[in-house]
Amino acid sequence: AGPIRVALLGCGTVGTEVVRLLTDQAADLTARIGAPVVLTGIAVRKPNKHREVPAELLTTDAAALVASDVDLVVEVIGGIEPARTLLLEALRSGKSVVTANKALLAEHSAELFEAADASGADLYFEAAVAGAIPLLRPLRESLAGDRITRVMGIVNGTTNFILSGMDATGASYSETLEEASRLGYAEADPTADVDGFDAASKAAILASLAFHTRVTASDVHREGISAVSASDIAAAKGLGRTVKLLAICERVTETAEDGTTKESVAARVHPAMIPRSHPLAGVNGAFNAVFVEADAAGEMMFYGQGAGGAPTASAVLGDLVAVARNRVHGGRGPRESAYAGLPVRSIGQT
Ligand code: NDP
Ligand code: HSE
Repeated sequence: AGPIRVALLGCGTVGTEVVRLLTDQAADLTARIGAPVVLTGIAVRKPNKHREVPAELLTTDAAALVASDVDLVVEVIGGIEPARTLLLEALRSGKSVVTANKALLAEHSAELFEAADASGADLYFEAAVAGAIPLLRPLRESLAGDRITRVMGIVNGTTNFILSGMDATGASYSETLEEASRLGYAEADPTADVDGFDAASKAAILASLAFHTRVTASDVHREGISAVSASDIAAAKGLGRTVKLLAICERVTETAEDGTTKESVAARVHPAMIPRSHPLAGVNGAFNAVFVEADAAGEMMFYGQGAGGAPTASAVLGDLVAVARNRVHGGRGPRESAYAGLPVRSIGQT
């Protein structure tokens, strides 16, 4: 088969590792896909600072790169615009998209999925939630025949790094936040992490996939960790507990007086004191862990590195291989625009 031509949008913490994996594993990827992958261009803002990638691939014109002759667009810019416009352009012209952009998906998934379904392109986003951990594919595909009742866990590496650092060594909030940014865990604007916006976006994506409905970040009750103090952590310790930022997505069943039941979906993000014996209490640093409960499957736990360049690039590459295989062998990923429409109980913002 002819080469799969890939445009990369963004070359920061994640994008740099995507380029490295594409280069280091070129031969294996060709064998796994059945065709070579060719990186045709990399869009950035400041080409001069990117000495680590071939200069001839760099461009500041992301729109022209998306419009060029490519099969697949990988977006690791982040934020809403210009990512939204670029990805809609790509999908509308039949180019498949792999993105790690949870903020975008949590607000604009409906129009992205519609564009993908209209043109027959794929939209994959495993890296958007819980970094390297294969979590969305199981929810989207493996558990599609089951009835999920709850998805709950730690989905933000930066806040978990801060909270577990404060708990273990008594390090200060600001020291640990700076370290999380230096290690590439935090968002470009770390208030997205510490105020719970990032976890709320992830909760919206998880709830949408788990419950086959459309949950946006604004439907998610959100409380971050900026008000959690060293004395709160010490008090929790004294009670045999630790503080974690949890995302909880649930199927809620209400029974009316006449005995009829009504189901809805609710999602929330907030710090919680959990017993030190709980499995989530042992999830430290930038690791994430998510429990899933389903009627037939029972309980499952997904655990691994939830942030950082290489772990996130692993998930991006997994999606890239899936999409490239679909191109080579004529398949298609799941369609998402036809939702069952379970109502969302919007708790709103605090
Ligand atoms: P960075 O801030 O490190 O990198 C962003 C890249 O996008 C930079 O190369 C920047 O260019 C480029 N860029 C920004 N604006 C534009 C633009 N208008 N046109 C072209 N290029 C642009 O972000 P990360 O790599 O950390 O994150 C990327 C995405 O991945 C985000 O959506 C994030 O939420 C997600 N993600 C990140 C994880 C992580 O651990 N870091 C984990 C999971 C998901 P330049 O370098 O020239 O400024
Ligand atoms: N800033 C995010 C986090 C990156 O800390 O979890 C991974 O999505």
